[in-house]
Amino acid sequence: MHPIVIAPSVLAADWGRLHDQIRAVEAAGADWLHLDVMDGRLVDNISFGPAFCESVAKVATKPLDSHLMISRPDHYWSRFAKLSRNITIHVEAECDVAATLRDIRAAGVGAGISLKPGTPFSAIEPFLADVDLVLVMTVEPGFGGQSFMESQMEKVSMARDIRAARNLAYRIEVDGGINAVTGAKSRDAGADTLVAGSSVFGAADMASAIRALRG
Ligand code: DX5
Ligand code: ZN
Repeated sequence: MHPIVIAPSVLAADWGRLHDQIRAVEAAGADWLHLDVMDGRLVDNISFGPAFCESVAKVATKPLDSHLMISRPDHYWSRFAKLSRNITIHVEAECDVAATLRDIRAAGVGAGISLKPGTPFSAIEPFLADVDLVLVMTVEPGFGGQSFMESQMEKVSMARDIRAARNLAYRIEVDGGINAVTGAKSRDAGADTLVAGSSVFGAADMASAIRALRG
């Protein structure tokens, strides 16, 4: 349904050389850049906030895919709106998720919904008609470099099947432990948008790592 998009996660970049890393990963073929915002409450880590994302936006030429792993996206989403192609919030957030998704879309930004590995797919079903992207976490969110959870492929296929059955059009994204092998499994299950941090930024040759993710 959608062309494959590779969205390297800036979380895995060398932030001391952020400008060069952004230039390099874009030259290597990244379609989007993925921004993993963490508040230390929804997930057990703190990464970066709006100011850091604004500095990325100053250098980046590719669309920015903001993933808000935060408990109050209703309060903070607007600070990412200008710089983001889409903003993804978590169904586990402590806010009115439907209203926040509506607000994001009303601002002309793509709206995404994500769920942790321990959250059943049924939790996001009420929102599927109102999103542009479904993000299935394939690790427990909070850290890069973790191992891929194959059990989450069921959710990817459910998202694909429901999209077809209900004639919806959202992208299906996976995030966590994505490399050439797990990326192929994810595509086979129905994913069209692959977030990859360590497998790209940790690669000796980023361009071949990105090519391998495309399959
Ligand atoms: C949540 C983050 C990570 C990151 C990807 O923990 O969303 O999943 O983007 O990290 P890698 O690709 O290194 O697993
Ligand atoms: Zn992410």
